[in-house]
Amino acid sequence: MGLIRIQNVMSNELAKRVFLSRPPEPPPEFLLNDPTDSIFIGITRRFGVPLTWTFATLTNPHISVVGITGAGKSFFVKTFLIRASYVWNANAIIIDWAGEYKSWVAQSGGKIVALGKGDFINIMDLAGMKPLDRAKQIMNALDILTDITSFAEQRRLTAEAIEQTYVNAGFPLTQIPKDGKDAPTLKNVTALLEEKLGEGNYAYPAELENAIYRLREFSREGEDYFARKSTVDLDKLITSGLVDLDLSGLPDERFRALAGLFILQTLKEKMRFEGWSPSKGLKAIIVLDEAWKIASDERSDAITIIREGRKYQFGLIVASQNPTDINEAIFSNVGTSIILRIRFEKFLDYLQGSLGFTAFMRDEISRFGVGQAAIDLSFQTSIKFPSVFIIEHIIGEMPLNVYAITLGDILQESEMNDTTIQKDYYLKKMDIMAKLVRTNASMDTINSIIFDMDKANRSVDVKALAGILTKNNINREAIIQFLREVGIPDNIISRVFVYMR
Ligand SMILES: Nc1ncnc2c1ncn2[C@@H]1O[C@H](COP(=O)(O)OP(=O)(O)O)[C@@H](O)[C@H]1O
Ligand SMILES: [Mg+2]
Repeated sequence: MGLIRIQNVMSNELAKRVFLSRPPEPPPEFLLNDPTDSIFIGITRRFGVPLTWTFATLTNPHISVVGITGAGKSFFVKTFLIRASYVWNANAIIIDWAGEYKSWVAQSGGKIVALGKGDFINIMDLAGMKPLDRAKQIMNALDILTDITSFAEQRRLTAEAIEQTYVNAGFPLTQIPKDGKDAPTLKNVTALLEEKLGEGNYAYPAELENAIYRLREFSREGEDYFARKSTVDLDKLITSGLVDLDLSGLPDERFRALAGLFILQTLKEKMRFEGWSPSKGLKAIIVLDEAWKIASDERSDAITIIREGRKYQFGLIVASQNPTDINEAIFSNVGTSIILRIRFEKFLDYLQGSLGFTAFMRDEISRFGVGQAAIDLSFQTSIKFPSVFIIEHIIGEMPLNVYAITLGDILQESEMNDTTIQKDYYLKKMDIMAKLVRTNASMDTINSIIFDMDKANRSVDVKALAGILTKNNINREAIIQFLREVGIPDNIISRVFVYMR
């Protein structure tokens, strides 16, 4: 009897202990993947395992990223996109609400589409879609962005006018258009409704007037960002490497959201059409940063895409400083959640409710430093292990615009092994240009020097650099000044000229 009791206590104790000592990270075989087919993110805090991300074992390739301003959301996104382009040749489109990726994309050799500042999108463009499907998408966007759903008659009039405009322009509603012909615009739709109003025999002229008024908001001269011939080739958008869709030049949130929704709809349709191909990795990554209207509305394609999981061969990254702007359906369906520092209790409540992490983890998240992250992975396996773990910090990629100047064989052997001597100098392009400006070099000369350094893969030894500068007619004094500003010691600079003689 006594014995049995003791055993009872012991197994209770044991059970408790097993519970407490559950491993705080997924097993390494779930974190460490083939480096040629995965993206390195950082090192786990507890066991020091490199996390190399692949969606092969996850429920889907979509990612949410949250954290206060400055926590490192954009840094993560940039790092991820660069590596995805190395590893998978993945294309990327950033739906850039505030224009904050613009300069990075320019420096990385990507393409910038600046809506409201010279670039236009005709939201009636078909990009290989049937007019009827596009008409439905436009109505879906209006449903999200305006209160048109509460006005059934106006909604019907608008939908009908969009369809009729396609037909009038020679685009049969259920046929995939042939190349070459320009699609009509919302201006044509507005004109059609105005014509109907002018005829004077429609029973509810006030409804018609309101429908016209609504459409005019998006087609009025000067605000016709979406009602003019597109300057963007939508067919090519997803195969153009890195593209920044800069929305900061649009007048307000509604216009930005319209652009974002339109792009998501178009890409989704394109990917549906192309279907899943067995090629490895992701074909494309779409980034929605701070796009709260798109991330929060139940009817938005952002949510459909994430719900549909692995159906498309692109990954959607939704980033926001305010987790409550991201619909719960996104958190509960993405394969990967990246949680950087979060401070507000209300946001922590929301995240903890959606992702179900421990109080300990909650406390950690509120105290994270820049780049530290809790990661939640939804594995396809039914094996049970804690899915939220901490990455010491997201390890970044060297920006693509960095130039390296090395000392190379100008150093003597003893200096090579001297750890107090800096051997490599890294400078941003802007830095190099600024230093050259101070030597009074002309812009043409500076561009020619940059061109020569690009040809050398942005890494030159100091002798080769002096050669490039000399070739571009920079005199000796100016070269010395430049190398000093880079931080190279005088005794080494003097050697450069000995070699060059
Ligand atoms: N993991 C990291 N390693 C090094 N620097 C980082 C890291 N994350 C962010 N930073 C730096 O911190 C600053 C803010 O990061 P950013 O990504 O712009 O924040 P957020 O987008 O969350 O507002 C940037 O200067 C960035 O370079
Ligand atoms: Mg940011």
